[in-house]
Amino acid sequence: MLCSLWTSWPWILLVPGFAMGWTKQSSSAQTDIRNCSMVPPFLPPTVTATSTQLNALRQLMQSYNISAYIVPATDAHMSEYIAKRDERLAWISGFTGSAGTGVVTLKNAALWTDSRYWTQAERQMDCNWELQKTFWTDAIGEWILQEIPVGENIGLDPFLFSIALWQDYGLILQNSNRTLVPIEDNLVDLVWGTQRPPAPTGKIYLLPDAFTGSTWQEKVSDIRSQMKQHPRSPTAVLLAALEETAWLFNLRGDDIPYNPVFYSYTLLTASDISLFVDRNRLTAEALQSLSAACPGPLCVQVEDYDQVQAKVRAFTQGDVLVWIGKEYTTYGLYGVIPQDKLVESIYSPVMMTKAVKNTKEQELLRAAHVRDAVAVIQFLLWLEKNVPKGSVDEFSGARHVDKLRREQEHCQGPSFETISASGFNAALAHYSPSNISSRKLTVGEMYLSDSGGQYLDGTTDITRTVHWGEPTPFQKEAYTRVLMGNIDLAKLVFPAKTSGRMVEAFARRALWAVGLNYGHGTGHGIGNFLSVHEWPVGFQSNNVPLTKGMFTSIEPGYYWDGEFGIRIEDVALVVEAQTKYSAGEQAYLTFEVVSLVPYDRNLIDISFMSEEQIQYLNTYYQTIRQRVGPELQRRRLEEEYEWLWKHTQPFSQGTLLAASLSSLAATSLVAALLPDSQT
Ligand SMILES: *[C@@H]1O[C@H](CO)[C@@H](O)[C@H](O)[C@H]1NC(C)=O
Ligand SMILES: *[C@@H]1O[C@H](CO)[C@@H](O)[C@H](O)[C@H]1NC(C)=O
Ligand SMILES: *[C@@H]1O[C@H](CO)[C@@H](O)[C@H](O)[C@H]1NC(C)=O
Ligand SMILES: *[C@@H]1O[C@H](CO)[C@@H](O)[C@H](O)[C@H]1NC(C)=O
Repeated sequence: MLCSLWTSWPWILLVPGFAMGWTKQSSSAQTDIRNCSMVPPFLPPTVTATSTQLNALRQLMQSYNISAYIVPATDAHMSEYIAKRDERLAWISGFTGSAGTGVVTLKNAALWTDSRYWTQAERQMDCNWELQKTFWTDAIGEWILQEIPVGENIGLDPFLFSIALWQDYGLILQNSNRTLVPIEDNLVDLVWGTQRPPAPTGKIYLLPDAFTGSTWQEKVSDIRSQMKQHPRSPTAVLLAALEETAWLFNLRGDDIPYNPVFYSYTLLTASDISLFVDRNRLTAEALQSLSAACPGPLCVQVEDYDQVQAKVRAFTQGDVLVWIGKEYTTYGLYGVIPQDKLVESIYSPVMMTKAVKNTKEQELLRAAHVRDAVAVIQFLLWLEKNVPKGSVDEFSGARHVDKLRREQEHCQGPSFETISASGFNAALAHYSPSNISSRKLTVGEMYLSDSGGQYLDGTTDITRTVHWGEPTPFQKEAYTRVLMGNIDLAKLVFPAKTSGRMVEAFARRALWAVGLNYGHGTGHGIGNFLSVHEWPVGFQSNNVPLTKGMFTSIEPGYYWDGEFGIRIEDVALVVEAQTKYSAGEQAYLTFEVVSLVPYDRNLIDISFMSEEQIQYLNTYYQTIRQRVGPELQRRRLEEEYEWLWKHTQPFSQGTLLAASLSSLAATSLVAALLPDSQT
């Protein structure tokens, strides 16, 4: 799922010209339909009235003696997806996009967001809010300096800003005679009051052993030994990201939509473990597992979630060294630890360890992808039958694929909001249909479906683009080149510890060759029943080097604004490659694609493809048959089984024959190629 790849600022920061170019193109067609100079203003019906909450916030700001208040779109754990009760920016501004920053002064209010969200922001915000079409912190700072006179204060909640972002604001305001004031009471929450959605109360449960890579005790011991081996021998690790704690203790909850995590922090030392969480929400079984070895070094003390700051402050009075990952720790928490007691790395050792899946975790993720392929194949077949009848729209399509996934064993729901986009809607980067605005699927247009599931054994994410009628030659070429990029990266052999950033151009090469490109990242890590975007794995500049055992998506695309959009996304495991020579100390690496759904034959023009690419595709199709075929048979999904067979016929080099081979001939051809196949 690409949505948040645009949100991954560092990638855009590296390629600003490119990203901005893309941005202009897609925004030029849109203009603000609000007219704030009319009396009364002209506003679309989708805006939220914000005068009441802004007035209340401004009164509060005056009593706190601040002239501006900054409202970000994240939570205290730097989560990508947030719970309703953390949607402060949406509540104060009306804007519900996942990335943005609001600044409220005593007179004005402005919202900064990136191009994905400009149209949405103009349709959601009333005239109290001006839209700033950029996301750079510098631009926000400049605006603040213009609006706020010398000598006045700018307030923010230190628990909602990463260390780096806080420091950026500090730098901008340095020597400007304005002061950045940390205010621990969140002013939006104070205004929101009893209207604010309550803290979640859902159960926090233990993931059954069958679905975990190792016991939580083994994971704790591993992190402890990493502490010992660290040159500075930190005495504690402080975990702030929600997926870190969930992974470490093999616990899951449902505090945040699409992400099975729960509000928590962890402080781990050589002799103690403190888990900061609402104790009442732990199941009896979870509590029992955490406290089975009490007292002792494998005894988990459950402490109040709200106590983390006080506990860390008290703990750091002693002779200790606390290891934190800067990317996910807020300035608020960081600030309570004296500077000389900090060991900082970009990511915590838990984040780094979680990124590399062990053999069992790899097997679990592979298994989840087989069941996920069944759901997607059922969906593609259903579309083939129903789109020509004119009975499917984007919204009903999205609901149907979600439903098919939920019917699979171990499925707990979708892993993100399904993207289901027909025709020109697919050219919008971040398009999810609603029941109000939903385009009908037709045989005359391309359709893009990007969806994923949360299964107890793994998180999935796959994109397929299809056309049921007659695609134009350009559509076929663009699709084929996107596919070639996907294949070129997936079959690449590269040295161990190569950074994803260094190889991602392979996914673009076939597009670049003809002057085409796409304006988003090429992939992201993915979890075992955790986040669909699992950093720090992927192809962006801020991602860690690729290592055996990591999973990443590979998702090139092509988007023609106002016309159509193409994306082909698979999840792949980094594995050792078989190379002719082995000169280096470490084996070279390559990818094993674990998503198992064929591409759309109707959009493939193999005359663009090399022999190796075709060979690769045929081998991949054999794998799909071998792995998904038996599952379809086991489930007695006869029609789907036939569909799979038809859609995984091997392509033969340089001929149009493949397309016209009868399925009988194709079947026997495969039987010949594949002595142990299921034929
Ligand atoms: C807004 O409305 C005013 C007053 O009717 C009009 O003069 C102006 O052109 C409108 N602006 C836009 C951008 O439509
Ligand atoms: C408000 O803040 C300004 C700037 O820091 C300070 O000079 C002033 O004394 C403060 N006023 C109150 C009432 O605290
Ligand atoms: C900040 O205040 C100091 C002392 O009042 C003054 O000398 C300086 O010029 C001011 N700087 C700015 C940027 O206003
Ligand atoms: C559209 O969805 C919203 C929210 O899910 C729901 O309240 C509303 O009834 C739906 N409208 C229609 C026409 O289905």
